[in-house]
Amino acid sequence: MSESAGTDAKRYLVRTFGCQMNEHDSERIAGLLEDDGYERTDDESAADVIVLNTCCIRENADNKLYGTLGHLKARKAENPDLQIVVGGCLAQKDAELIQQKAGHVDVVFGTFNVHRVSELLDEARDTGPITEIWTEAALDEAEAFPSAMPVRREVDHAAWVTIQIGCDNSCAFCIVPAVRGVEMSRPYDQILDEVRTFAADGVTEITLLGQNVNSYGRDLQLAKRQAGDPSARLRPLFADLLRDAGAVEGIRRVRYTSPHPKDMTPEVFAAMAETPTVCPHLHFPLQSGSDKVLAEMHRGYTGERYLSKLAQAREMVPDLAVTTDIIVGFPGETEADFERTLEVAAAAEFDSAYTFVYSPRPGTEAAERVDDFCDPEEVKDRYSRLRMVIERSGRRRHEARVGNVEEVVIEGPSKKDPTQITGRTGQNKLIHFPSGPIKVGSYATVRVTEAATQYLKGELVEVTHTARHRTKIPVLSL
Ligand code: SAH
Ligand code: SF4
Ligand code: F3S
Repeated sequence: MSESAGTDAKRYLVRTFGCQMNEHDSERIAGLLEDDGYERTDDESAADVIVLNTCCIRENADNKLYGTLGHLKARKAENPDLQIVVGGCLAQKDAELIQQKAGHVDVVFGTFNVHRVSELLDEARDTGPITEIWTEAALDEAEAFPSAMPVRREVDHAAWVTIQIGCDNSCAFCIVPAVRGVEMSRPYDQILDEVRTFAADGVTEITLLGQNVNSYGRDLQLAKRQAGDPSARLRPLFADLLRDAGAVEGIRRVRYTSPHPKDMTPEVFAAMAETPTVCPHLHFPLQSGSDKVLAEMHRGYTGERYLSKLAQAREMVPDLAVTTDIIVGFPGETEADFERTLEVAAAAEFDSAYTFVYSPRPGTEAAERVDDFCDPEEVKDRYSRLRMVIERSGRRRHEARVGNVEEVVIEGPSKKDPTQITGRTGQNKLIHFPSGPIKVGSYATVRVTEAATQYLKGELVEVTHTARHRTKIPVLSL
């Protein structure tokens, strides 16, 4: 990120529609544009460049893009110099369709050529609308792991760290492998270098990112073995990485997302338990409780197996919060299948869950099973029954925390009530408490006084660490 380029600089705005990977890609897009002299604006009417970083995980994610593009058409009519850019997973999947449906889009690029954004904008300015989609085959290592690109972080104290891209699983409902490619692990030392660079820059919290993080390193080990290194053990390196990243000086919190239950090992739980900086929070996507549905999804575990791994996690990692993802209405899901999901969810006692109605994604295996699609009314009913089970355990688990004193990181004033500060606990729960201003990114201890389904309330005990201003190490060159 360069210093302010003055008032003549072009202004950009990036809108993110997707998951943490997309948020992180958006930070890179912002970093690249700032490196090129653009300045950020949050005011759409002042923007010279608007980048829509898209998602296609469910149909409503697709619809959101087309809705936004419709609205931007009017903006472009007012300001013909405005450049509209569409990137991300939906662009990777549907580049041609986007151009057909929205002729006013200047640049379409995909998930593998984020680093090209500035050049593409320049080219489009000279020669008109441009679409450039790469596949992973086109990547060299530096391009595959673009954390070597400039990053404009949304907050100073926390950073995403990509450890792996792509996904080698083939969950029958999921479009991600089609748009993010095969699984590739980022070199171990490069990750640790990045964590150290962040820590030197005042970052205290990192989140390790990948679609299947606990298989991190399998491919690296295999490549070493094939290159004749017999010491390379064919096992994932994720547990080692948690320990090493967690030991970097200055790092106070390590989070990760998402692991896959089928690849989860006790080594990972041991690393969580034995590394004080690794937060006691496990996001453990269940998807369904029915063995039949799980098999048809190709998830690689049963309801029982899931619960036994979870029990092991709770046994090994003290005071562990567990969250999950569940899909309702997968093709062929019967009432009995769904009841099993309710049973497993109740037994799992989740702290909270992202629950989704199944959305057919063209090109995926499950989307072909049109005759087995569930009745939407029934799915709606199941969905609300599932929410009740999730919220019941969420509330219970929150209530059990009343009276605890927990360390929280300060996120800022509460969105609803500016006399309150919002913090995040190690278990990843939001907690609101009355206080005068405290610098974002500081740490404080807070006594929990009240519990709701989605958050906690509390009172400040003391500020334990004041965030330091960042030292402006803007560009990571690894
Ligand atoms: N790699 C991650 C998932 C990323 S997608 C993992 O395996 O956990 C995030 C969540 O979206 C998934 O866990 C799943 O619950 C949900 N999801 C994915 N495809 C979906 C679809 N077609 N319909 C509804 N929900 C879906
Ligand atoms: Fe999708 Fe499954 Fe890969 Fe997750 S593990 S990204 S749900 S295919
Ligand atoms: Fe993420 Fe959506 Fe892509 S969930 S990986 S942005 S399809």
